[in-house]
Amino acid sequence: MELLSIEKQFADALKSVARNLEIKEYIQQSSELYPLFQSAAKRFVTGEAREDGLSIGELLINKGYRISLEFIGENTINKEGCARAKDEFIALIRECGNRGIISRISFDLSHIGLSVDPELAYENLIEMAKEAQSYNLSLMISMEESAKTDQILNLYKSVVVEYPNIGVTLQAYLHRTMDDLNDLLNYPGAIRIVKGAYQEPSDICIPRSDELDQRLLELVDLCVKAGHQISIASHDEAIYKQIMERGYLQNPHVEAEMLYGIRPELCKQLKDRGIPVRVYLLYGVEWYLYLTHRIAEYPPNIYVAITDIIRGGGNSSQYY
Ligand code: FDA
Repeated sequence: MELLSIEKQFADALKSVARNLEIKEYIQQSSELYPLFQSAAKRFVTGEAREDGLSIGELLINKGYRISLEFIGENTINKEGCARAKDEFIALIRECGNRGIISRISFDLSHIGLSVDPELAYENLIEMAKEAQSYNLSLMISMEESAKTDQILNLYKSVVVEYPNIGVTLQAYLHRTMDDLNDLLNYPGAIRIVKGAYQEPSDICIPRSDELDQRLLELVDLCVKAGHQISIASHDEAIYKQIMERGYLQNPHVEAEMLYGIRPELCKQLKDRGIPVRVYLLYGVEWYLYLTHRIAEYPPNIYVAITDIIRGGGNSSQYY
């Protein structure tokens, strides 16, 4: 019990440190620290280049997985940065299309403009959706902190009617999500359901608990009964057990999705049982925040990170 409380304090402290730009810049400019952190990041991030994501993605597809690919980034604060991010996503879509890599492209709207001007995010999203559609590929919008939920859902709804190849993520921990899901079921487009990753005020969300797990299952129930395409994105074995008992993972509209480097043995177990499993792969130089989040959400990962720093991390062979 005591350890859990210490772990919670550690996780909260790490989340604050993760967003401290001075610490991030210090690490990224340090020739001693940067490679050490990079070794730890290798478990969760395929590499810094597009090709790193594509080559590991191809390997996993050949082993029977589905994949999502993301060029890491969020909260871009100027137009030039948004244009660069959008161009990288377009290049990624083209490369997947030309190489026959059937990947879902996943991203934060704040990476391509939402934090600068919602109109810019809208234009960039349309450009990416058109490009993806021409290659028969799909996009998936991530869900960010609750201050952005309305903006993200409104933008999504304005575009998905014309581009049903776009999906959106919903966070089970927000009290509002049941209403949001009921609304979204009137639109095309896949839905990804996650528990939720941000530090939110306690009056608007459910903390990690049985109640949250039940809420996630209720959301899944609703999607499945509506015949909607859904990704259940979690690393929680107990959730998958419940979903399997309900027979949902045999439903062609339902898949499991997990982040690269987390629970690869569970991915393999599910995949070997014939269940569609999507692995979410990331690449890019902005891996620092991503690494700290993966440790903060599951503090024992600090031991994994230290081991990877000592021995060198990253190994996709755990998936096969
Ligand atoms: P939970 O945190 O309840 O943990 C249950 C168990 O899972 C743990 O006891 C442990 O066994 C295992 N586990 C969980 N995290 C682990 C880790 N890092 N390392 C090792 N084991 C771990 N969030 C969001 O707010 N917006 C988004 O758009 C997305 N997108 C997204 C896509 C995909 C594909 C996934 C898998 C997750 C997200 N998330 C997200 C993150 C999500 O909200 C959530 O924070 C994490 O998935 C952790 O919650 P779990 O459901 O995995 O279980």
